[in-house]
Amino acid sequence: MSRPLIERFRSVLPVSDATPVVSLGEGSTPLLRAARLSESWGCELWLKCEGANPTGSYKDRGMTVAVSKALEDGAEAVICASTGNTAASAAAYAARAGLPALVLVPEGAVAAAKLAQTRMLGARVLEVRGSFDEALGAARELADRGSHVLVNSLNPHRVAGQKTAALEIAEELGGPPDAFVIPYGGGGNTTAYAAAVAELGLGTPIVSVEAENRPATLASAIRIAEPVHAPRVAETGARVVSASDDEIVRAWRELAAAEGVFCEPSSAAGLVAVARGDIEGRVVVTLTGHGLKDVASADRFAPAVGTVDPDPDAIAEAAR
Ligand code: F0G
Repeated sequence: MSRPLIERFRSVLPVSDATPVVSLGEGSTPLLRAARLSESWGCELWLKCEGANPTGSYKDRGMTVAVSKALEDGAEAVICASTGNTAASAAAYAARAGLPALVLVPEGAVAAAKLAQTRMLGARVLEVRGSFDEALGAARELADRGSHVLVNSLNPHRVAGQKTAALEIAEELGGPPDAFVIPYGGGGNTTAYAAAVAELGLGTPIVSVEAENRPATLASAIRIAEPVHAPRVAETGARVVSASDDEIVRAWRELAAAEGVFCEPSSAAGLVAVARGDIEGRVVVTLTGHGLKDVASADRFAPAVGTVDPDPDAIAEAAR
């Protein structure tokens, strides 16, 4: 049985022997050396592949802790607002815990696979006529009424769990990298990495990459106009970089073709900072979600499929 993240990092998490561990085998994700992109982009690039988590994104690291603590505290239900990945993770861990989950998503703005995944996992999904920010506001108000525990990254247990990605990276590399690079949506993950850097007593720089056009980026996971953690992100001293959609798509396609790693568009945002060539040394880019989370975007940008008769000559000709 794979070791639950909570067991592996028990000493640095807000859990006790009384905490029921709700796990799906999260964490311990691959850290890959990216030799070709290192060569192109002039640094020693490593990829932390968080799409390998049980629901396909890094959210599971925080959700195992948040849902375990909710269960310990006697919660009757959990709630979140989400651009899709928190939704799927909350649904999965709530199901695992035997708790109902209520998920609010911005109408028409979430990748289809994430919605299907969340519904399949038994959450009640409501599309909110409004933005992610408005959905989050409503989720916070409902949680304040006491009926549901909020499992967005405003829940400190989420951030505590998510810092374990940075701890794994430092452990595996035998020391910290020269920079951690991550996408920046609401900013919860930036605060989580900053917490890990602080706890390790390191000064490792964090580069957080947001979409230049926050309210309308094609990278729907980070389509967040008003990042709720912005004040905390500013305090951490993380360097915030803005990436255009064209840059995100270019880096995303290059990653897949050059390294065999398929992430979702939002996850490629971090790569843009590296592709610009202004980050040196040993750099770890965290790829936050799996490519299969957003098939429509892949379909839009991937090379076309050809059609042939089942004839070897025709196939050989078409494949040239
Ligand atoms: N990458 C992916 C794949 C995400 O799903 C998110 C956020 C981020 C990066 C940004 O992280 O918000 O901590 O700065 N997704 C949230 C959700 C908003 O609802 O799934 P952040």
